[in-house]
Amino acid sequence: VTLVERRILLNPGPATTSEGVKRALVIPDVCPREAEFCALYADVRHRLAALCGDPREVAAVPLVGSGTAALEAAMTSFVPADGLALILDNGDYGERLVRIAATHGIPHRALAPGWGRPLAPAEVDEAVAGLEGRATHLVFVHHETSTGMLNPCEPLLDLARRRGLKTIVDAMSAFGALPVRVGEGGADAVVSSANKCLQGMAGLAFVVATRALASAARALPRRTLSLSLADELDHLESTGQSRFTVPPQIVSALHRALVELEAEGGPAARYARYSRSMAALEGGLRALGFELLLAPEHQSRILVAVREPEEAWYDFASLHDALYAQGYTIYPGKAGRARCFRLSVLGDIDARDVEGFLAALAAYVTAARARS
Ligand SMILES: Cc1ncc(COP(=O)(O)O)c(C=O)c1O
Repeated sequence: VTLVERRILLNPGPATTSEGVKRALVIPDVCPREAEFCALYADVRHRLAALCGDPREVAAVPLVGSGTAALEAAMTSFVPADGLALILDNGDYGERLVRIAATHGIPHRALAPGWGRPLAPAEVDEAVAGLEGRATHLVFVHHETSTGMLNPCEPLLDLARRRGLKTIVDAMSAFGALPVRVGEGGADAVVSSANKCLQGMAGLAFVVATRALASAARALPRRTLSLSLADELDHLESTGQSRFTVPPQIVSALHRALVELEAEGGPAARYARYSRSMAALEGGLRALGFELLLAPEHQSRILVAVREPEEAWYDFASLHDALYAQGYTIYPGKAGRARCFRLSVLGDIDARDVEGFLAALAAYVTAARARS
């Protein structure tokens, strides 16, 4: 017996969750300061760290909040007042990183090649050189969820290492599907949340950072109390507890989601499933006459931005409502940008679900075209 109806969410998280993850929400009431809960929390932290490095060298710090809270935690904790962050911005989430820096008075420069445009590592290298040794951190988005652009993570990490910069990667909609290494040969910190490619519930985000970066943060003045990663990590490691209230049910669901990720075969197997779903989705969209925003070489296999048809039959709200009534959630584009809507295959869905969606979409399009 399934707990509730299964819906197919094609928004980029919170995503369709498995039956197991939904069931993991229902646990006996437990105080998050009890040893029983601390053991579960420690295992979640261990699994998050092990997904990107050696847990002896890297540490995972979960935080209660959405992904943006964890991004604010990483930037306020790791970039010192006498540092300079070079922030790469080729979409809404890159722009959000710039806004976080501006909000907290973090010294920064933005390199913005334009919304939806690829980031060229050579241009980034030039920008770093132009800062004449003042840049200390490179901050960028791995998968730019506003367009589906996959930014060149490895080349950017390589150039940062060559230039002696610390790296903070917003891997919000990549972590769990696209591997990112933290530590030796990888990033210094990655930030993500429970409810995207990890396929858990919304409400928890996290930072995985090298212990070296976390311990350097101890010496810096705190910019916020609840988002101080140095203080939170110290407390976690000395007591097993968070300093603040943690939602045990959401942690339980994330634990189950991490076990399911391992059972699926890890991030590579998950990305392969997403790739099969995306192949079905792109094929179906093209067959219906839709155009995609990005060139295939830049687009992830996680999300596609679809150009809105400039035809009389098309109306996003009515398309959305018709599909929603059949159990499919689609996602608008970002207002004021290229006219597009977005579809993501992250979550506990597969190519068969995508085929079901495409059949519903085809029926809508045929009827709407006939009406107009
Ligand atoms: C790349 C990226 N960064 C940051 C965020 C912000 O996350 P949240 O909405 O959970 O605060 C998102 C959310 O979609 C994202 O995709």
